[in-house]
Amino acid sequence: MASKSLTAFFILYSFLGYIPSFGVILRTTDKIVWANEFQPIELTCLIESISTNNPRIEWKKIKNGIPSYVYFQNKISGDLEHRAQLIQPANLLILNTSRSDTAEYRCEVAAIDDHKHFDEILISLAVRVKPVVPRCSVPLAVTVGTSSELRCLENEGFPASQYRWFRNNEELPQDPKSSLKFINSTYTINSDTGGLKFRRVRKEDAGEYFCQAKNDAGHAECPAQLMEVYDVDIVGIFLKVLAALAGFIIVMVGICHAHKHGCFSSGKDHTGTNYKLSAQENGVDYTEADEGHFRHKSSFII
Ligand SMILES: *[C@@H]1O[C@H](CO)[C@@H](O)[C@H](O)[C@H]1NC(C)=O
Ligand SMILES: *[C@@H]1O[C@H](CO)[C@@H](O)[C@H](O)[C@H]1NC(C)=O
Repeated sequence: MASKSLTAFFILYSFLGYIPSFGVILRTTDKIVWANEFQPIELTCLIESISTNNPRIEWKKIKNGIPSYVYFQNKISGDLEHRAQLIQPANLLILNTSRSDTAEYRCEVAAIDDHKHFDEILISLAVRVKPVVPRCSVPLAVTVGTSSELRCLENEGFPASQYRWFRNNEELPQDPKSSLKFINSTYTINSDTGGLKFRRVRKEDAGEYFCQAKNDAGHAECPAQLMEVYDVDIVGIFLKVLAALAGFIIVMVGICHAHKHGCFSSGKDHTGTNYKLSAQENGVDYTEADEGHFRHKSSFII
């Protein structure tokens, strides 16, 4: 049916003599076509001139330099089967584009009765893909005055996503100097990589952060995460306390070893009453304790 009306179309054209039939000439409305994934798109292959009644029409897909048939012997084949159709005169309509359709497409028309009996046209199709929810990393707690980096990334979006950061649902301006509210903040945003870097974190930088990945096909956000800012380095203090405690224990063990009996055996040497007495009297009986190691032991227990 398609080829019948196609023929009628060309007969009419030749009859009216609008186009001198030197040969087949193709034209397209767009050589570079963008489509959104899961939406239809039509690649146009218009026949400007032809005098052959029944030209042979073929479409090929060229991906990474390898051609494959899309329309061949009057039917759709390959991975576009059931997803595309030919529209007069030779347009290719893809009903539900997929990201794998991003490729070059070549429309080829062979008209054996024409003087110039072959023409082809190359169209490049790029399918936009929406970003997925980005993976975000926000430090739980940072110390005032230190540097800090928040990261955000997703790899599905095409073209590659651009990133924006929000704090307490308010967008951080690309340049903090451009806003009175953020003027004292020391951050920089890399909208290509998704990084948000603070050179020196301030108390005011604390808050709930989330990031948005966006391209021409859509956008997606990660859930907000809280970043707390502390005046002092609590982790550092904890580590110092731990180190001090470890040092103390090492010194104690050293002292115990220095004495021939060792701490535990010397504890057994003393009677239970003596031991209890020193503990009850809160170390007041230091003068009564004649042995240095005993004194150490009692003070350690208290
Ligand atoms: C398009 O294809 C996707 C899978 O590739 C499918 O989930 C979706 O339902 C299709 N949409 C239409 C309108 O056919
Ligand atoms: C920024 O710092 C200046 C000088 O320290 C101060 O006067 C101003 O109030 C600060 N602005 C904000 C928004 O914190």
